[in-house]
Amino acid sequence: EKGGYPHFMLKEIFEQPRSIMDSMRGRLVAENTQLTMSSIREYENRFKNAQRIIIVACGTSWHAGLVAEYMIEELARIPVEVEYASEFRYRNPIITEGDIVIAISQSGETADTLAALELAKSKGALIFGVCNVVGSSIARATDAGAYTHAGPEIGVASTKAFTAQVTVLTLIAMMLAEKRGTIEKSALHQLMMEMEQVPAKVEKALQLDKEIQAIAEIFKDSSNFIYLGRGLNFPVALEGALKLKEISYIHAEGYPAAEMKHGPIALIDENMPVVVIATKDNSYEKVVSNIQEVRARKGRVIAIVTEGDTVIPEMAEFVIEVPETHEVLVPLLSVIPLQLLSYHIAVMRGCNVDQPRNLAKSVTVE
Ligand code: M6R
Repeated sequence: EKGGYPHFMLKEIFEQPRSIMDSMRGRLVAENTQLTMSSIREYENRFKNAQRIIIVACGTSWHAGLVAEYMIEELARIPVEVEYASEFRYRNPIITEGDIVIAISQSGETADTLAALELAKSKGALIFGVCNVVGSSIARATDAGAYTHAGPEIGVASTKAFTAQVTVLTLIAMMLAEKRGTIEKSALHQLMMEMEQVPAKVEKALQLDKEIQAIAEIFKDSSNFIYLGRGLNFPVALEGALKLKEISYIHAEGYPAAEMKHGPIALIDENMPVVVIATKDNSYEKVVSNIQEVRARKGRVIAIVTEGDTVIPEMAEFVIEVPETHEVLVPLLSVIPLQLLSYHIAVMRGCNVDQPRNLAKSVTVE
């Protein structure tokens, strides 16, 4: 059942080229710049005229929501708010009929997410679901939705569900941009062509496994980790830190890299591993300065960079290269080494990676 892998988590990490592909299948044909999602078509006018999109989710799904916030605002120019479902539902939130609420959930059974969407529904918002489990409670409670086709995810730590969510949300952002006329046709075509290449690039990133295992060996006894990223890689930093906490029980924090100097920098010394996601995008130069700040305090930098980077290898202690892609698609690649790093560290520490202590696969109580 684990397909020859020692753990479901590793199997699921390695399934990502396939699950991303399955989540795009029938929805994206780059060659003729064609995007199809019947649920979006059905509510085309609501989406076109949306004043605001509110995303509700928990945990890793909330991180996928943060990635979507950047993408939807960048491509479709619709204001997006991302809310922890548990906070949203108890805040007497302001919701109007012009709002669209997107609920993201792998299991489709998360109690807080379900309650948040029921609340928004009662106020007249359109509720759109991004779920993995067909026929789940959340999928049934929504007005419309798009399934992620990640297949069953058994490992408690979510991996392939995250990249499938980001994939579906990327397609939604592209469709909204197209319908609202906020993207040039040629730019959209270019982005779609890059999107089609993602599964093959994820496959390539997975080949870093041995290299990452060697890095895991060096840091497996650390008691703290910091993860830094900017822009679209900020949610990836949060996700990397969550993965490490959940399965290895190492304390880890994810931060937007620029926030470091507002406090966390005080933690940095020669014992602190700092994972910096420093791919080539418009915040690259800024992230390079953040790496220098960490180095100046003797922090041990593990940098995730774009293939061919010649600058960061000069300053970081360890460098992991992921293939180059369109800026918007980077999270689908930059998260892969972080999943593998936490997996290997947890295994080396003798942890039960598929069923970490105190956690359940779906959180059906609030
Ligand atoms: O099934 P959901 O996507 O609604 O679950 C939300 C969170 O409980 C979930 O992502 C959790 O944070 C995972 N254990 C993360 O790996």
